[in-house]
Amino acid sequence: MAVNSAELSQIVDGLSGDVKKISPKYFYDERGSQLFDEITRLPEYYLTGAELAIMRDNIDEICTLVGKRASLIEFGSGSSLKTRVLLEHLSELAAYVPVDISKQHLYAAGAQIRDEFPHIDVQPVVADFTQPFQLPSPAVMPVRNIVYFPGSTIGNFEYDAAIELLRVMHHEAGEDGALLIGVDLQKDPALIERAYNDSAGVTAEFNLNMLRHLNRDYGANFDVTEFAHSANYDQDNGRVVIELISKAKQTFAVGNTEFELADGEAILTEYSHKYTLDGFAAMAGQAGFRVAKVWMDAERLFSVQYCVRL
Ligand SMILES: C[S@@+](CC[C@H](N)C(=O)[O-])C[C@H]1O[C@@H](n2cnc3c(N)ncnc32)[C@H](O)[C@@H]1O
Repeated sequence: MAVNSAELSQIVDGLSGDVKKISPKYFYDERGSQLFDEITRLPEYYLTGAELAIMRDNIDEICTLVGKRASLIEFGSGSSLKTRVLLEHLSELAAYVPVDISKQHLYAAGAQIRDEFPHIDVQPVVADFTQPFQLPSPAVMPVRNIVYFPGSTIGNFEYDAAIELLRVMHHEAGEDGALLIGVDLQKDPALIERAYNDSAGVTAEFNLNMLRHLNRDYGANFDVTEFAHSANYDQDNGRVVIELISKAKQTFAVGNTEFELADGEAILTEYSHKYTLDGFAAMAGQAGFRVAKVWMDAERLFSVQYCVRL
């Protein structure tokens, strides 16, 4: 497989700063997507259960807000698990457009959705949504575009990048469109930390799999056995910091560039920001959105928010 030189330079740049980091988008090769699906089924990972419950409990109101003949554009669709609640209840959907970077997984999920919902025009798009990409034109003219962004994937972006991405969604929603987004909330730090340090070690495997992905597709030579998973909640910044910690002094290469790591030094692989309702509303406002409706689960662990143009 030919190495994508723009992505290679992005990886090398990320590892060349004072804090070594790799973008979380590199978690998602085929195995990474399967491991993420396993994470969503873990007892400690409260996010998926809470978000699904919110969707199911409020689906009638959500459908009324979305209206008829919308085009549903999902960013980072993965296995489209929560989307099925929408697809089962929305009437006369113009199209469902799942967008994801993980190609094989997206196509498999798209094929399954087509089987389950043969009346829906399903148009998967393989793209990195942080870069410009083209959306297809549905055969049926939609009344409006609804951008769907579940899973609190927004939390993987730092403040400015999150606003930038919300602006892209604002543009894709268009004049009469809206954003339906899953947003994880600040809560007991112990509960948050448990979600990213599961007892079965699936999250650790997911984190380490990023190195295998880079070895296979980007000419890296990480010794995966020399790294350990770490996830800690930084309460001051309201985010989980997920890292790979070097178990020894070591060197590794990505392409032709060599790097050194001290014993105990970290590579940052992901942030997972947790929000207050006011904090998210302020961020959405910066991108031109007003939060029109918030739904939460009974324990107020998670929120689904409906955002319209300001
Ligand atoms: C945290 S998972 C959420 C999956 C699913 N939406 C859910 O709620 O269970 C993030 C998803 O976004 C995709 N993804 C991550 N970064 C991406 C990027 N830059 N462009 C496109 N897809 C991306 C991943 O492949 C993965 O399917």
